[in-house]
Amino acid sequence: MNAHSELSNLVPTWEKSCTSTESTLHQLSPYIGKLKSSIAHDLIQNYSAPGDLVADVFAGSGTVLLEAVKMGRRAFGVDSSPYAALLSRAKLSAPNTLDEALIRAKKRLEAAALRPVPDRRRIPEWVRNFFHPNTLSEVVNFSKECKEQGDDFLLACMLGILHHQRPGFLSFPSSHLTPYLRDKKFPRDEFPLLYQYRELAPRLLAKIERTYKRKDFVVSRESYTFVEGLTENVPFPTGISCLITSPPYMNALDYGRDNRLRLWFVDKANAELIDNAQSQQRDGFESLMATVAMQATKSLVHNGYCIVIVGDQIKRNSKYPLSSVVQNTFAEHAPSLNLTQIIVNSIPDIRRARRDHRGVRTENFLIFKKEYA
Ligand SMILES: C[S@@+](CC[C@H](N)C(=O)[O-])C[C@H]1O[C@@H](n2cnc3c(N)ncnc32)[C@H](O)[C@@H]1O
Repeated sequence: MNAHSELSNLVPTWEKSCTSTESTLHQLSPYIGKLKSSIAHDLIQNYSAPGDLVADVFAGSGTVLLEAVKMGRRAFGVDSSPYAALLSRAKLSAPNTLDEALIRAKKRLEAAALRPVPDRRRIPEWVRNFFHPNTLSEVVNFSKECKEQGDDFLLACMLGILHHQRPGFLSFPSSHLTPYLRDKKFPRDEFPLLYQYRELAPRLLAKIERTYKRKDFVVSRESYTFVEGLTENVPFPTGISCLITSPPYMNALDYGRDNRLRLWFVDKANAELIDNAQSQQRDGFESLMATVAMQATKSLVHNGYCIVIVGDQIKRNSKYPLSSVVQNTFAEHAPSLNLTQIIVNSIPDIRRARRDHRGVRTENFLIFKKEYA
């Protein structure tokens, strides 16, 4: 495959939004640091073929995995965050049709309604503060029902409408990507409607309808494997044709804090989890990358690709080029992986989690090819 020049030509289109063309399943629930699905699509198209095994070992919300199976590849994914794991599994295991999804949702809503009212004293105040008491009872019971039934898809649908100020969402006025109450901007006495009971059922069914707007593919259970755990502890399968991954950007994003409300519904014990300490420090990041480099060497097929997407860490007063760390680590630990190309893509402001924050502004695509046996 000689796709490099072709790929470089595609880069300008990566700046355009793909939300009106991508599969709506990609929009199941927000995730900070999410890769654009159009980028995942182009990389998979250029560096793998139908039937190939495509991996993402820091899978996040499952963008690469979903796009891979949608394009007829098999997928392998890993992530340590319970919210990321839920979202990835939900996208991969979504019911085949809208009708199936709606029938299942109605059944779960009925079963949840038969549960006793949850004991509010067992719900932390910071969680209670986001919801009208009746809405809170419904979302707590629905999440319990989904967890007991192993229904990742419907739980993820509920999380996708958990917080925002729009009428289709469940919380009091709040931001959508990260959970911050907007009670100062929308005081209760001036905006009483925003603090009324919000019924789960109609909002959930409408969310499911939106999710199936552009979902015209079926994913078989055999076509993917997802492991919830630390990448450094998970053995990668052999026969990977293309590994595409965006590792955590040391301190640039905080997956625990930014997802804390959704995490509470997925896994209470980890709700206060502040992002995995491993990747926060320079040494931690290097050793994580060394593990990925060594595992990729063993697991990639001959002529297979490993594409690492890293931002250039720009923290106030310091410029820390993560791409050089990855290049040096790969040169040391994976000498058979040749760096064939680096693509630099600027991240438009609209895609950045915190626009006022001097965070990641460009992302570098380091494209390694396994060239020696
Ligand atoms: C930049 S995000 C990936 C985003 C993903 N490409 C997407 O489209 O949603 C990095 C991910 O690495 C995960 N992570 C951080 N440290 C990890 C570790 N040691 N093992 C596994 N996953 C880890 C975080 O939970 C986060 O989801």
